[in-house]
Amino acid sequence: AARRALIAGNWKMNLDHLQSIALVQKLAWTLKDRNFQSDTVEVAVFPPFTDLRSVQTLIAADKLDFSLGGQDLSAHDSGAHTGDISGSFLKALACDYVLVGHSERRANHSETDQVCLAKVQAALRHSLTPVLCVGETAEDLETVGQSAVPVAQLTAVLEGISAEDEIVVAYEPVWAIGSGTPATAEQAQEVCGVLRDTIRTLHGDEQADRTRILYGGSVKSSNIAGFMRGADVDGALVGGASLDSEEFAAIAQFEK
Ligand code: G3H
Repeated sequence: AARRALIAGNWKMNLDHLQSIALVQKLAWTLKDRNFQSDTVEVAVFPPFTDLRSVQTLIAADKLDFSLGGQDLSAHDSGAHTGDISGSFLKALACDYVLVGHSERRANHSETDQVCLAKVQAALRHSLTPVLCVGETAEDLETVGQSAVPVAQLTAVLEGISAEDEIVVAYEPVWAIGSGTPATAEQAQEVCGVLRDTIRTLHGDEQADRTRILYGGSVKSSNIAGFMRGADVDGALVGGASLDSEEFAAIAQFEK
């Protein structure tokens, strides 16, 4: 099945709203200069919550071909949850996506697989596509190997959603994030293949063939082509390199 590639930029806690405006404008110019074709590649950006409104306004005003997403959401829909953000608020700002279970959330906010499932369910309730992040730490890699932990993290979520649901999976080995040491293209393909098999076993061919599986962890313009050659790698979740418009545009325009 032909899946449209997704190149997603996770800005993490890096840009205030003026810096976000500058980046999204520069990115739009750079992609235009490069005559970027979005028919086979979707570009999505994930700014901090406080920047979403500014970025959304620019996307709408300039008719930019970017998808928008939040970096997190509450498992609850509304109410007494100080500091949390509802999926409905993200949807109202024209977000299509929301990250769930990024390893930084799992580590810094003790997000368990149960919390991730509740957040995925909340995203789906609000017609957002959750981008479920999974991946093993360096210690997991030594003790149980590369795919056991990401498979368990994905399984915990698949068991609580249905085969009709639309999700994106991002395989991000924790040791590769921000380290300058990416997984090899072969490792990324192998684990993404195992993750697709997991969807196939639990929910069947249709969801397995349609679901986009991304690789993330020290992706750069110089290594994206190798990752994208993997049959089960449908795109990338990019951190550091997404803050540089030239670099991110070059990633989005990877060699096919
Ligand atoms: O969400 C993005 C990832 O954590 C990857 O970050 O590209 O800076 O390694 P990185």
